[in-house]
This record gives sequence, structure tokens and C-alpha cells, in this order.
Amino acid sequence: MFAVLLQGKSIVVTGGNSGIGEAIVLAAVAEGANVVIDYVADPEATTSLIAKVEGAGGRAVGVRADVSQPADLQALVQQAVDSFGRLDVLINNAGIETRTSLLDTSEADFDKVVAVNMKSAFFGTQAAARQFISQGGGGLVLNISSVHEDWPMPGNIAYCVSKGGIRMLTRTAGVELGPHDIRVINIAPGAVATPINAATEADAAKMKALDAAIPLGRMAHAAEIADIAVFLASGKAGYMTATTVVVDGGITQGSVGL
Ligand SMILES: NC(=O)c1ccc[n+]([C@@H]2O[C@H](COP(=O)([O-])OP(=O)(O)OC[C@H]3O[C@@H](n4cnc5c(N)ncnc54)[C@H](O)[C@@H]3O)[C@@H](O)[C@H]2O)c1
Repeated sequence: MFAVLLQGKSIVVTGGNSGIGEAIVLAAVAEGANVVIDYVADPEATTSLIAKVEGAGGRAVGVRADVSQPADLQALVQQAVDSFGRLDVLINNAGIETRTSLLDTSEADFDKVVAVNMKSAFFGTQAAARQFISQGGGGLVLNISSVHEDWPMPGNIAYCVSKGGIRMLTRTAGVELGPHDIRVINIAPGAVATPINAATEADAAKMKALDAAIPLGRMAHAAEIADIAVFLASGKAGYMTATTVVVDGGITQGSVGL
């Protein structure tokens, strides 16, 4: 008899019906977790993901919630409690980008990126931490940040600013919440083959340049990020907090080789 890593854990995944979020849902369920799948668009994708989870003998519920709204984040936490009795892990995964430079970014676009990517992580962490403290036993907030929490990406500045904010959120909240046995960790993926990169993947010249810049020679599969999320959510990572795990195929350490 082999143990599974997340048996009976109650996990919320924001933006859980696409890309990295979807891969995390499937990987977590395969390790015995029960999952609340947050989505803001494409309810059909959520329905078919839930069918896949149930077909594999797992449990998942879908909730439409806009993560830029703190009340919606609170509703997600409540859904985990109502459906599965408690919350063990919140995964702040939902994210967007504008691919605009400092000179071109409108106030509305800036506000939207910061609200969806960073404000959501702040108030999601707050809602989850309050629940962890009231139920007892600690918990984990896992933020899907980006290598761009640290690494400039000219032409995508609002995204970088939002991810940089998540970097400091994780460090400060991790320190504040450690005495409650609540861990806060970021995963910083490099380039991952998901819908957010559809335009890049459709451009052969861009893909060639990108693959050449990555020491492992290719984008990540979403499942390769999900596997790290499962490890961090398990008891095997119980001493990790207030830090970032970089999963980037080496791109941020690469050199131009001149
Ligand atoms: N794909 C990459 O190369 C890459 C690299 C580093 C970090 N990331 C991060 O990974 C996370 C997931 O992105 P992905 O690559 O899977 O892309 P994706 O576009 O497939 O997924 C993003 C998800 O967020 C959801 N979302 C957007 N706005 C929302 C809102 N207001 N409320 C709730 N959900 C909302 C989308 O509907 C979608 O489900 C993002 O935070 C992204 O910044 C991705």
C-alpha cells in the first residue's frame, strides 16, 4: 500500500480551469485532494474538468469567482469549508498580462493587472489565513508568481510589477504567519506552454529564439509546474516558507554565450 501525498486535503485553485491551474487540479486530485476550481470564464472547460476529476474517482466543485474582488475570494474559501469541511491550501494561480511597455500602459490596464495578479494574492492570503487560524492546524498559501517577480521583462511591465509585489507579499506574509504554522510560498515558472503564451507559440521565429534561450531547450509543460505544487502542498515541504521556488529550465541563469 503506497501513501498519496495530499490525501483528503481541501484545496482551492484560482483560475483552475486552464493552463497551469488545470494541471494543478489534476495533479492534486491524483494525490487524493478535494478541489474547489475557481473560474471567471469558460464554464464549459470547468464542467469538463470536473467530469474528468470525477471519472478518475476524485471530488471537485466549480465556483465562478473574480479574484480581483475580495468578497469573491472569501466565497471561495467558504466553498471549500462548505464542500470539504475545511481549507488546507489556497493556490493563487489566476493571472493576466497586457504585453505593453511603460510608455503604452493605460491606467485601466495597470489597475486590472495589479488587481487580478497581486491584489487577489493579498486578499486571498488574508482570507485563507483567517480560515486556517480559526480552524487550527496551519495551512499553505501557494502563489503562482513568475520569474518576472525578479527578472525584468521589457514590454510587459505591469505584469512584472504585479509579480514583484507577490514576491514581497510571500516573504512578509510568510514571516507574519509562521507562528500560526501557515506557510506562504511562490512558484516562479519560466516559460510554460499554456493559453497565456498562445501568441508566442504561434510564432515560429519567436519560439526558436525562446527555445534557444532556455538551457533545457524548451518551454515547460504545465504538469511540470503542477508536480512542484503538489510537492510544496505535501508534508514533504513542511519546513519551506517565505520563499520562491524557481522552475524555469535555467532561463534566468542563461548567458548569451559571447
Ligand atoms: N505560462 C507561462 O509561461 C507562465 C509563466 C510564469 C507564470 N505564469 C503564471 O501562471 C498563472 C497561470 O497562467 P497560465 O499560464 O496557466 O495561463 P492561462 O491563461 O491558461 O490561465 C490563467 C487563468 O486565470 C484566469 N483568470 C484571469 N482573470 C481572472 C479573474 N479576474 N478571476 C479569476 N480567474 C481569472 C483565467 O480565466 C485562466 O483560467 C498566471 O498567474 C501566470 O502569470 C505563467
